[in-house]
Amino acid sequence: MTGTGARGGREAEARTGEPRTGEKVTAVSPANIAFVKYWGARDPERAVPLNPSISMTLSRCVSRCTVELRPAGAADEVLLAPAMRPAPEPFAAPVRAQLERVRRWAGRKEGLRVATRNSFPSDAGLASSASGFSALTLATARALGRDPDREDRAELATLTRRSGSGSAARSLLGGFVEWDVSESGVTRLRRLAGPDDWELRDVIALVETEPKPVSSREGHRRAHTSPYLSRRLELLPERLRRVRAAIADRDPAALGPVVEEEAVDLHLIAMSSRPPIFYWRPGTLRVLEEVRSLRRDRVGAWATMDAGANVHVLCVPEEEEEVAERLAALDEVVRTLRDRTGAGPRWDDEHLL
Ligand code: PMV
Repeated sequence: MTGTGARGGREAEARTGEPRTGEKVTAVSPANIAFVKYWGARDPERAVPLNPSISMTLSRCVSRCTVELRPAGAADEVLLAPAMRPAPEPFAAPVRAQLERVRRWAGRKEGLRVATRNSFPSDAGLASSASGFSALTLATARALGRDPDREDRAELATLTRRSGSGSAARSLLGGFVEWDVSESGVTRLRRLAGPDDWELRDVIALVETEPKPVSSREGHRRAHTSPYLSRRLELLPERLRRVRAAIADRDPAALGPVVEEEAVDLHLIAMSSRPPIFYWRPGTLRVLEEVRSLRRDRVGAWATMDAGANVHVLCVPEEEEEVAERLAALDEVVRTLRDRTGAGPRWDDEHLL
């Protein structure tokens, strides 16, 4: 089974055989926006989720990650592009842990030099960990002589989510992706529809560009303390069915309301956890109000938020202009980003190192 749909990069495609010191590999991997949220983990360290989730892979919000092979035993180095400064420890520590995990999996000993850059603000609830860790895992595996395109998808997904970011596994595939989990905790990735089957637009209203107050890993841990978690889990099978059907029917009006219910429930669980987590900012509510006002004006737009204050507004391509204009006009919106359904990770010859 093919590991990912990673495309492109002539130089990368031509690489075969033993990896050589100094060789560089670059992966570009997208963020994704969850329609049915992963919130609550059976095992937060290994990112084994409590519930199945469904997301849409994005196209423009991406992480670019270059990995360079160093001699065996050399220390790993983590740099932030474009300044090429060593990454601060809270960023570098989980990256180094993932490098070590991939190195052990590949059975290699070489040191690794890594540079990474996002096309969008990090840590603002825009799934920078999903794009970042999927790009890092793919580039590292390839730099160490493995070919992610030929690896077993489940194995690659497990390796990716072991980074601690479960949603990173969903970014390995393009289009609309379900991340299923069985009663016994075995997870499986499944593409529900490809990027060319249906194109949705995602206008992201940034109301906050500071890092979120509590990490999603901590949020998953605290979810169990919410008295409403069990009710949410009861409601999920029906929601998953509705989202799968809406994707199969390419029906935004069927998809939108479930996606909004899901977003509100994720934040309801966060706010009712002990201690509570408030990701929303006043601007979040202002955008939600504007989305309802758009619908009153017969523009099909639906809002969702991951673990952060910023709002993703989903619509069909014909409505994007109107949605973007209305959101950009709000005082509380710092900036809008425009994204769309994307094709998944790719290899690239433009290295950061
Ligand atoms: O993958 P993590 O640990 O960053 O958790 C993702 C949590 C949400 O973004 C809020 C929901 C999701 O399914 O992406």
